[in-house]
Amino acid sequence: MSESTHSGNTVEKPWTGRFSEPTDAFVEAFGASVGFDQRMYRQDITGSIAHARMLAEVGVLSEAERDSIIQGLEQIRGEIERGEFQWSIALEDVHMNIESRLTQLIGDAGKKLHTGRSRNDQVATDVRLYLREEIDLIQGELARLQGNLIDQAEREAATIMPGFTHLQTAQPITFGHHMLAWNEMLQRDAERLADCRKRVNIMPLGSAALAGTTYPIDRDFTARELGFDMPGRNSLDGVSDRDFVIEFNSWAAILLMHLSRFSEELILWTSSQFSFVEISDAFCTGSSIMPQKKNPDVPELVRGKTGRVYGHLLSMLTIMKGQPLAYNKDNQEDKEPLFDTVDTVKGCLRVFADMMGCSHDNKGELRCHVVPRREMMREAARRGFSTATDLADYLVRQGVPFRDAHEIVGKAVALGVRSERDLAEMSLEELQQFSDAIGEDVFEVLTLEGSVAARNHPGGTAPERVREAAAAARQRLHG
Ligand code: ARG
Repeated sequence: MSESTHSGNTVEKPWTGRFSEPTDAFVEAFGASVGFDQRMYRQDITGSIAHARMLAEVGVLSEAERDSIIQGLEQIRGEIERGEFQWSIALEDVHMNIESRLTQLIGDAGKKLHTGRSRNDQVATDVRLYLREEIDLIQGELARLQGNLIDQAEREAATIMPGFTHLQTAQPITFGHHMLAWNEMLQRDAERLADCRKRVNIMPLGSAALAGTTYPIDRDFTARELGFDMPGRNSLDGVSDRDFVIEFNSWAAILLMHLSRFSEELILWTSSQFSFVEISDAFCTGSSIMPQKKNPDVPELVRGKTGRVYGHLLSMLTIMKGQPLAYNKDNQEDKEPLFDTVDTVKGCLRVFADMMGCSHDNKGELRCHVVPRREMMREAARRGFSTATDLADYLVRQGVPFRDAHEIVGKAVALGVRSERDLAEMSLEELQQFSDAIGEDVFEVLTLEGSVAARNHPGGTAPERVREAAAAARQRLHG
């Protein structure tokens, strides 16, 4: 409940006709959604203006009534934006608060606004307008993060790092290739969100309470006014469907799952055990007791916030699972999970996009916030026998069957472990004791650069391919 919301039975509720007793004071507070749904005031006013225009178009309202409604609603928008509007719990929600004020301001014309409409189709319309707008903002932030990852990929196309499976050093890759793997995940998220938007952008208005209305409404007119792709095809479904909230929430859950994975990697990489990257001070905090600490708070928080978005998804699924058609008050419970999901997604994307980007410092120099420590990553790749597969592939090219090659290299690695040396640090004679198929040219494939350069096919980690892939990713992003 917001602080500007006041309680009391002094305000006239618009539905008291059949009631003889006032609402219980706690029930009033318990049932009110105005504390959180006032966030949709703009959409509510926009929807009402479109509805009034349509009613005038079909002759239900006079032009004078329409104009006075529009003027009144615009005045209310101003009052809300200036913080002058008196929200009332007795008036339950954003819709009745605005309607009641409208009648106060313009009299009888205000009472006509709700003709051919119900709060059921009104709220469903408002939520869709709200979410559509937020999706557009989120798409922008997502693209900004992708752009920063692609830039990073291009800068680090030839930066060697160890690639992992089972979190054990597997094969050398490039840091740029890793950044582009993240980008692929986000690209799918962007595509899924664009698809989700199509189902958000369908107009429930005109469904009225559940069965439609007896007035000669023009739903195509309102849909056009509000930028919806089309009016919904079924009035019962129109007022009761919250699939679009669930779909957005499940989209958000997948996105946060991705951001959480990125976060987990950044957290590992910044630890002194890995030391693969440095995150700039602006995105970290210290410890109040341990002076040496620099904690990766931002990725940790993003990883943590994933939990609440998963929680909201489960809330929404559960809110909907037992509801008979059509509208039920249960649906009022859709807003807080949705709003918090939107806020969380926007916050996480914004901070991640900033963190993965670069900005000019006070000397005007470009400084990136996540800086790869090239030497450390290279050293980690070298230490982990990451070119063992390359040696096996070399033997295969000399005619050794792959399984035998695997065995030979395993023995060479065992020697490396015993003598604390990488394969490239052994002499030719030492290597030849495992197989006489090994020749002088073996050292070309045992280098890290040779290893990554050899994976030179579409989707591979060769620097040349990474540069190509980054260019293609940028094209997709702006195309
Ligand atoms: N505040 C309500 C909600 O969020 C608006 C719709 C109320 N409709 C009703 N029949 N009580 O769902």
